[in-house]
Amino acid sequence: MGLFDAFAYNGKRVLVVGGATGMGAAVAALTEDAGADVINMDRAEVSVGKYIQVDMSDKASIEAAIDECGGPIDAIFHCAGVADGTPGIERINFIGHRHMLDRAIEKGYLGRGGAVGFISSAAGLGWEANMGVAKEFLEITDFDEATKWTQDNGKADYMFSKIAINVYVAQQAFPLLKQGIRINAILPGPTNTPLARANAEMWLGFGQDYRDETGTEPSTPEEQAYPLVFLCSDAAKGITGVTIVTDAGYVASGVTESFRAAAPVVGFLRGPMYGQE
Ligand SMILES: NC(=O)c1ccc[n+]([C@@H]2O[C@H](COP(=O)([O-])OP(=O)(O)OC[C@H]3O[C@@H](n4cnc5c(N)ncnc54)[C@H](O)[C@@H]3O)[C@@H](O)[C@H]2O)c1
Repeated sequence: MGLFDAFAYNGKRVLVVGGATGMGAAVAALTEDAGADVINMDRAEVSVGKYIQVDMSDKASIEAAIDECGGPIDAIFHCAGVADGTPGIERINFIGHRHMLDRAIEKGYLGRGGAVGFISSAAGLGWEANMGVAKEFLEITDFDEATKWTQDNGKADYMFSKIAINVYVAQQAFPLLKQGIRINAILPGPTNTPLARANAEMWLGFGQDYRDETGTEPSTPEEQAYPLVFLCSDAAKGITGVTIVTDAGYVASGVTESFRAAAPVVGFLRGPMYGQE
């Protein structure tokens, strides 16, 4: 055992949810390379790990998949997500993941020493400014009722799903730590994946002026997998409840106005969107 082994996954069993392509696939490959036994759930066929098919918009499918996975699970990586316009976005991006996590804990598959990692988004930066409405939603823990709430309240959309993840991660740090489980998320900026390429103008065009001036490119899926895999490793034992902005500095440059062109959009993303706050 060397000091650096805390970063490794030898002897660990990890579950990647949404590991067919993009960042989830990179997490599956990285954790496998780090020594883990990888279970890989997706609606599409995967190329790394043991495949279990799941549709994250479907409660029964989620329950069957987690039962098939069984335990122990040392880390769950919640990577599956879709863009606005996809039916079921509120379930695929958040409600389904929460249901799977709840069930994994309830069944005792994930417990003391376990870690949870979500892929959220810089689109959820407004989580503090919109905490009231997000908490109102998060109080509804039933899968179908939560789904109905988002649809009835016009919040079955990408931005709200990411705000909900961020509030959830912060809010759950305390109750989960009492069970010995940590929870964190990354908030990627533009990342070159099939999802981003399918929405290229909005997703990969975002922050192009910043990348032009810094001589950088949209990040690779691996560049996002590295911090997420770190957060779920023993090396991050002191970190929980945190949403890390993994966007190559765009948000920080907007907040401080060191890159002035980013200030308006970052201000908008961090601001109250849902009225009452
Ligand atoms: N690419 C970006 O620029 C970017 C930026 C910020 C956040 N994100 C987030 O990153 C996460 C990963 O996205 P990505 O960019 O790697 O895209 P991706 O499309 O490559 O990966 C998403 C994965 O989710 C799976 N999936 C989709 N719907 C599913 C369903 N109903 N059931 C089960 N699996 C399903 C897909 O098959 C795919 O493997 C998403 O949550 C996305 O919101 C992406």
